Amino acid sequence: MQPASIEPTLGSPAEIDARLEAAEAAGLIRLTTISENLGVEVDGVDLSNPLSPEQIAAVYDALIRHKVLVFKKIGLTHAEQVRFTYELSEASPNIGAPTIGHTVFGHVENYPEIFSVYQGPKSKPRDMERYEANATTHPWTGYHCDITACVNPPSIGMLRGDLIPQGVGDTNFGNLAAAYETLDDTTKQQVADLYAEHEYKFGKTKGSEAGDSIASRRMISHHPLVAVHPDTGEKILFNSPGFLKFIVGLDTEDSTALLHKIWEHSVEYTIRHVWDEGDLVVWDERSTTHRAPTDIYSAETERQLYRTTIVGQPLTGLDGGASRIVEGEPMLSCEEELASRMHIGRTGTSTTGNSFGGAAAGAD
Ligand SMILES: [Fe+2]
Repeated sequence: MQPASIEPTLGSPAEIDARLEAAEAAGLIRLTTISENLGVEVDGVDLSNPLSPEQIAAVYDALIRHKVLVFKKIGLTHAEQVRFTYELSEASPNIGAPTIGHTVFGHVENYPEIFSVYQGPKSKPRDMERYEANATTHPWTGYHCDITACVNPPSIGMLRGDLIPQGVGDTNFGNLAAAYETLDDTTKQQVADLYAEHEYKFGKTKGSEAGDSIASRRMISHHPLVAVHPDTGEKILFNSPGFLKFIVGLDTEDSTALLHKIWEHSVEYTIRHVWDEGDLVVWDERSTTHRAPTDIYSAETERQLYRTTIVGQPLTGLDGGASRIVEGEPMLSCEEELASRMHIGRTGTSTTGNSFGGAAAGAD
């Protein structure tokens, strides 16, 4: 597993824009801007059937340029979502194969690439105060990039809305390239060569099913605070508040002060996705952060989404250094993970519908 090159593999943002303009003119894809912060709605691509190589390239270009893609009310099946995830995984040398549904919490039965994100009365957390506004809740609370405790966190994530309640359960996404670009020069210099520790840790899940799953798969990694996107060369303020614990080499007070400054700044560049049933939302995990809704837990209603993710690489910092493991193993492809689990024998089905145990922690 090689760290990403600092040279952009797929071209500058301007070059990608030119390719996208040509793809739209050729009728391969239609894009509608959602917000100046990030995100486009995609039409003209039928994800229920195999895509041509040209369409796969156009979808991937749109993804790395706009960071979040929304396909409205397309209603894919499990098999169609898995097929599209494999197709997209071929679009760049900087991404791997699809992962197992969730490295810690398992997968949907018979579809090892799919993770069930279920929230409802039967999966209500015991510690509901975690999800209520209080003195420890900030505007950035809950934002994260998926599983950044791992040295090579996912590169791409996608969620499909299957059962969507009205009025609750929106998902927010944030643009971490815009967050870097708009930092003042002094802060840019301050963060340039810093690394941060990311750990998979949930304070009040100890002794629960979710806590046991996390404890059985401990992961701690150091990632550059400013990463270079391997496809585009964009500089990313790579902060994942859900996993990022402290900045390496700073004392606690300085680390906390800098992180709060970065996190408060990063939530300026966000969008809120209001789900309809059948929506498929795809996001670049390397240049965005996202926040799962918490209002769903107090509603007596059910929400069911299905997630797939694609293996990523260690990130590259401005100094050319790469992410490094403190504890744990790199993320594997679904195929590799299943082969390794043959020897472990973790079995069972949780209340969220995932095999191998697990609960609602870390849901989207
Ligand atoms: Fe997530």
